[in-house]
Amino acid sequence: MRRIHPDVEDEPDLAAAYAYPRDAWLRLNMVASVDGAAWLKGRSEGLSSRGDKRIFGVLRGLADVVMAGAATVRTEGYGPARPRESWRALREGRPPAPPIAVVTRRLDLDLGGPLFTETEPYAPTIVVTTESAPKDRRDEAGRRAEVIVAGDDRVDLALAVRELRERGLGRILCEGGPRINAQLAAAGLVDELALTVSPLLVAGDAARIMNGVASLTPMALAQAIEEDGFLFCRYVRETRDDHTT
Ligand SMILES: NC(=O)c1ccc[n+]([C@@H]2O[C@H](COP(=O)([O-])OP(=O)(O)OC[C@H]3O[C@@H](n4cnc5c(N)ncnc54)[C@H](OP(=O)(O)O)[C@@H]3O)[C@@H](O)[C@H]2O)c1
Repeated sequence: MRRIHPDVEDEPDLAAAYAYPRDAWLRLNMVASVDGAAWLKGRSEGLSSRGDKRIFGVLRGLADVVMAGAATVRTEGYGPARPRESWRALREGRPPAPPIAVVTRRLDLDLGGPLFTETEPYAPTIVVTTESAPKDRRDEAGRRAEVIVAGDDRVDLALAVRELRERGLGRILCEGGPRINAQLAAAGLVDELALTVSPLLVAGDAARIMNGVASLTPMALAQAIEEDGFLFCRYVRETRDDHTT
């Protein structure tokens, strides 16, 4: 791997390269093809690379909590984040692995699957849902996970983020998908996008990494790393302070 922006460095220290700037920070991590597709044959796997997976792991190690939309959890077959030896130093003073927080209204999740049955007590899965979610599913989820109710018909993502922060889970890593991402952006909650650009043209009808209501968030390129033709970019939201200093 070679960092090519803002400076040039071979084999940069990825944990330092992706260190959270603040304790309250929401980072999206996504991979896209050059022509902007967020999936290939319905999943992100075909767009990924060895380096992408390495960074994916480091980002999880740095995070207090991993957030994902229910469709991503279902499609990508999420289980709990398993602790890694390489995370030991990154997670000093914190649990060995971050919990997964799933955003869902319908609660159409496999509550008997690993995400709910193979968690450790230090990182129970968190279900972020609504008042209007089916009561029986909510009750069942409550027996296997921590349930946060944040909104009536839809999860109010600003409220959900506040609830996570109140639990000491301020460094949020959102792993998509595009529908959750668009809502986070529209709510002004995206501090950073970690974007892997995969050197593929795929055309077709895959969504872009944001799929939903239009919004406009100016971003600055904070870092770019290259490996095997893949680009690993960090875009950080521009703030008014950035313009005045
Ligand atoms: N390229 C990448 O890096 C990447 C990353 C992640 C995912 N993906 C791909 O993206 C696809 C899935 O993404 P997606 O955009 O279709 O869906 P998504 O954002 O992962 O999940 C959408 C689901 O989340 C729940 N949800 C979203 N907003 C909500 C709200 N405000 N309140 C309550 N529930 C809410 C709903 O779940 P319920 O239906 O349960 O109510 C909704 O169906 C998959 O193909 C996956 O492979 C790609």
